[in-house]
Amino acid sequence: MSKVAVVYWSGTGNTAAMADAVEAGAKNKGAEVTVFGSDDFTADKVAEFDGIAFGCPAMGAEVLEESSFEPMFTSVEGSLSGKKIALFGSYGWGDCQWMRDWEERCNAAGAKLACESVTANNAPGEDVLDECKSLGAALV
Ligand SMILES: Cc1cc2nc3c(=O)[nH]c(=O)nc-3n(C[C@H](O)[C@H](O)[C@H](O)COP(=O)(O)O)c2cc1C
Repeated sequence: MSKVAVVYWSGTGNTAAMADAVEAGAKNKGAEVTVFGSDDFTADKVAEFDGIAFGCPAMGAEVLEESSFEPMFTSVEGSLSGKKIALFGSYGWGDCQWMRDWEERCNAAGAKLACESVTANNAPGEDVLDECKSLGAALV
């Protein structure tokens, strides 16, 4: 059975709602899914999963959340070469620069982005939640 991890940080619940849909999409396609808060994921876990979805909103000035998600991702990105991953997250007033920068970083690390990243302007609507389900399915 395909093993998928969903690793996310969310301050006000918008990215968490997306993570729930990613989990559902991967499970619907038959994967065994483990969900981690960003404090609980470490580089040594990467090898346990066939696919990993990372979720983080735009914070600071178009950056990843800096106290938990960013340090976790920095420690993990050296292990992502060849790994099937996908990115998602919510944003407020920006133009998704944080997501473009994040994708570039993942490509530089040699990760394989399994599908287009999914972004939600604030709370995800049904259409975005469907895209999150497809993102989860793409990792299986
Ligand atoms: C401290 C802080 C910094 C933020 N910085 C940005 C930003 O640079 N660009 C942006 O589009 N939204 C920014 N936002 C808005 C959040 O990305 C938005 O509220 C998002 O829905 C939060 O997702 P969450 O509910 O998963 O925490 C920021 C919000 C906070 C609280």
